[in-house]
Amino acid sequence: MIRALAIGLALFLPAVQAEDLNPVKDAGPYVPSPQSVVADMLRYAEVGPQDFLIDLGSGDGRIVLTAAKVFGARGFGVEIKDELVRKSNEAAKREGLADRVKFLKQDLFKTDLSQATVITMYLLPDTVNLLKDKFLKELRPGTRIVSHDYPLTGWIPEKYLQMDLEDKIKISGVTTTLIYLYVVPARVEGRWKAQMPPAVSRQPATLSLRQQLTRVSGSARLDGKEVPLEDIKLRGDKLTFKLSGRRGEFSGQVKGRSIDGFVETGRTKAPWSATLGG
Ligand SMILES: C[S@@+](CC[C@H](N)C(=O)[O-])C[C@H]1O[C@@H](n2cnc3c(N)ncnc32)[C@H](O)[C@@H]1O
Repeated sequence: MIRALAIGLALFLPAVQAEDLNPVKDAGPYVPSPQSVVADMLRYAEVGPQDFLIDLGSGDGRIVLTAAKVFGARGFGVEIKDELVRKSNEAAKREGLADRVKFLKQDLFKTDLSQATVITMYLLPDTVNLLKDKFLKELRPGTRIVSHDYPLTGWIPEKYLQMDLEDKIKISGVTTTLIYLYVVPARVEGRWKAQMPPAVSRQPATLSLRQQLTRVSGSARLDGKEVPLEDIKLRGDKLTFKLSGRRGEFSGQVKGRSIDGFVETGRTKAPWSATLGG
C-alpha cells in the first residue's frame, strides 16, 4: 500500500512541478463583448457556413455561439475558467448547436490554431501581441483575425472600424470601441524563377521580393533588365503588382513555393507563373 502510494507520488510530483513552472498566463479578465460588437466582428470578417472559427478566451461562448447560430459557421472556444466552459457547452446543447461548436478548458497559448479560417479575440493588449508569431506560424494564408479593441502592432489591418458604444463605459470607462481585421499573408519573401509571356520577357525572368507581413517590395529581372515592382498588394494568398513604367497588371495565387496567375494588358490576358528558389 505504502509502496503503491510512493510510486503514485513519484509519478505525480514531476507533473505538478512542471505545471507550477509553466502556469497558465492570464490573457485577460472575463469581460464579455457586448452582443452588438459580437455581431459586428462576425459581419466584418464575413463569417459564413464555410468557416471554422476559434475564439481565444471564449468567456460565456457568445462569439462562437453567434457565429454558428446566425452565420452558420462551425468552431470552438477555449477558456480557462471551468464554470464558463461548462455554461458555454450547456448553451450550445440548449440551442441545438452542439454538433457544430464546442468549448474546451484549455490554455489559448497552447491551442492548435491550424484548423481555423477565422480567429476572434478580446484580450489584453500585450497578450494580443504575444500571439502574433503563433498566428503567422500556425494559420493558413487568408485566415482572418478579428480583434476587439486591441491591435496587432506593426501589422497593418485589412480594415478597422471605430464606433462609440454606451455599453463600453462600464467595461473600459470610455465609449470608444474598435474592431481590427487582419488577413494572414502568404510567405513571398525570396527569389522566384518566373515564366512570363514573351511580351513581358523572352528569357526566363526572376522576381526578387522582400516582405514584412503584408508589406511587399521588390523588382523583376526581365530580359536582363531590372524593373521595380509597383502597387504590390498581398492579401492572404493573392498577390498583385505592376511593373514600373510598363503596362499590365499582374495577379497571382501563392501556393506554397509556386505562384500561378495572369497578366492583363487592356484586352489581352496571358498566364505567368513562378517558383521559389530561382
Ligand atoms: C475579455 S474576455 C472575452 C470573452 C469573449 N471572447 C467575448 O469577447 O465575449 C477574456 C476571456 O479570456 C479568458 N482567458 C484568459 N486567459 C486565458 C488563457 N490563457 N487561456 C484561455 N482563456 C483565457 C478569460 O477567462 C476570459 O473569459
